[in-house]
Amino acid sequence: MNRDFKVYRDPEELSSHAAAEIARLTDETLKERETCSVALSGGTTPRNLYRLLAIEYAHRIPWNRVHVFWADERYVPHDDPASNYELARRTLIDHVSLPASNIHPMPVTFPDPSKAAEEYELTLRQYFGERPKFDLMLLGVGTDGHTASLFPGSAALSEQRAWAVNSRAPVKPHIRLTLTLPVLNSSRQVMFLVAGEEKREIVKSILGESDGGARYPAGRVTGIDGTEWYLDKAAAANLT
Ligand code: 6PG
Repeated sequence: MNRDFKVYRDPEELSSHAAAEIARLTDETLKERETCSVALSGGTTPRNLYRLLAIEYAHRIPWNRVHVFWADERYVPHDDPASNYELARRTLIDHVSLPASNIHPMPVTFPDPSKAAEEYELTLRQYFGERPKFDLMLLGVGTDGHTASLFPGSAALSEQRAWAVNSRAPVKPHIRLTLTLPVLNSSRQVMFLVAGEEKREIVKSILGESDGGARYPAGRVTGIDGTEWYLDKAAAANLT
């Protein structure tokens, strides 16, 4: 399984190296293709990274050739503090020259979230065509091993056909939209960002076990070209 991990002193150093890798990857991608597709996650860990990209890389990444999607979304209005779109807008999107046509938020206004998921698949198909193939999938992991909004034992995790589905989180906001496991695994490069001592058990279970933690959703995600886990020392404490 093409997966490796790097351990950094703290979330700031983790974010700094992740931002540099994103810039390198984007640069490499754009040498071969006109645009680069990135899927963002929510939660607290990527906040530093998004801010750093906005400050340090506003002019070092050709944002006009980057298309931003979401790996998952909470089914709340886009101006809700819990929204993953709002997190990325506030910390990154409003601060770099991303054309509106390059920003592809998950829709959250359909009365039926399953219709919103279907609509997002159409958005993805408009960009990717027959098969999804994100250049970069940015993910986190929950203490239960979930990633995006694919929770252990959920129907969403088992979905093999749809590119996006609605799911139910054990914590509020309960209703979520998420890319499915086949879409995550069709990404060229996957980067997991994991920080904090509360993640040390799940990190050990996924990266420290011979089965690669396949019983956890995050343990089942691998990019085609690579899967890199960016850990801070606290999250990696049980690996050594
Ligand atoms: C979300 C995220 C989710 C997140 C993990 C880790 O919508 O919350 O996409 O999958 O990556 O829950 O979250 P933290 O970074 O806050 O620990």
